[in-house]
Amino acid sequence: MSINIPPEATRKIGILNSGGDCAGLNTVIASIVKFGVRLGYSFVGFEKGWEGLLDPVMYRDLDLDAVRGISHLGGTILRTTNKGRFAGKTGERGQPNEIPAAILEMARNNLRILGVEGLIVIGGDGTLAAAMQLSKYGVPIIGVPKSIDNDLSGTDLTFGFSTAVSVAVGALDKIHTTASSHERVFFVECMGRHAGWITLHSGLAANANAILLPEFEFDLNGFIDFLEHRTETRGSTVVAVSEGLDLGQHHLSVGIESSEIRLHGAADTLMHAIEEKVPGKYELRTVVLGHTQRGGAPIAADRLLAKEFGVAAIEAYDAEKFGMMVSLRGQSIGLTSIMDASKSLKLLTRSDPYYQTAHRLGVYLN
Ligand code: F6P
Repeated sequence: MSINIPPEATRKIGILNSGGDCAGLNTVIASIVKFGVRLGYSFVGFEKGWEGLLDPVMYRDLDLDAVRGISHLGGTILRTTNKGRFAGKTGERGQPNEIPAAILEMARNNLRILGVEGLIVIGGDGTLAAAMQLSKYGVPIIGVPKSIDNDLSGTDLTFGFSTAVSVAVGALDKIHTTASSHERVFFVECMGRHAGWITLHSGLAANANAILLPEFEFDLNGFIDFLEHRTETRGSTVVAVSEGLDLGQHHLSVGIESSEIRLHGAADTLMHAIEEKVPGKYELRTVVLGHTQRGGAPIAADRLLAKEFGVAAIEAYDAEKFGMMVSLRGQSIGLTSIMDASKSLKLLTRSDPYYQTAHRLGVYLN
């Protein structure tokens, strides 16, 4: 491919990230701009997710200077939000939400006023579901998948996930030594609203003795039997618990933001449920990893994936593959339809190879 740096870029593309942040967002933004400029595009970045595209518009020019030195940094220079007027999905299970026509028209009109011909949208299933609604208004859109939970269909991996797993592995490794010194039971709560990918991958990598996932039913009595045996034979126990673990009546919500239940407390709830059943029998402790899994610099694997996604997004835009999202399948970067990817979440099944490996290694799994 021959690439010339044009004297003056003529076609302007908007970049927008929305939803929760994750490690690698700045990497993908920088790589979109660096490659896009070489192909003759110029860029603006909309700030605070979709909100930046609505009145009053918030955006910044993204030229080479603006993205210099950012690609290894955590967070996003564009800032982001998971609230606002442009929600593609709402509610506890992420039900599709129809964005009012006036809002979609406002977005399209603002793009026209700014001379922005199309968008590269970086986000999870809610963001991409919203993008599809705007694309029906004639806005050319290419999607880039983003979710630390790795629960987006249509791609094997999203950037940010590997960094989150490595944070959780580091924490679980540390917890093992203190748990063993004191012969305690630790519940380490990992992110994963609907999907247990972070919990399973980090739990298996860090030798958690039990891994509790949101996709499957949880049997408290069965778990207490396991704990009794484990404590008798080994002393300490480290449990990786997903924040979305279904504990029935012990619900985990502590608040509601943008109609989405805010999860926090699976580990605490579980600890109290055990304490109620067998008071004083175990020394129980909890650790919530929370947003430490989302913050900080991306590890190398996420930087590489984000760079590949950024370059592929510009290639797709240049080839006018609108309505498509870049994705990873096996070792290959390709394209998949945004519509398909945002329809349903990618959840764990018990036939997952890592689930099976953990099971064979004697890890307690729900
Ligand atoms: O969806 C990604 C995620 O990291 C979930 O695992 C978590 O429940 C949620 O975001 C927390 O989001 P926030 O605290 O930003 O609302």
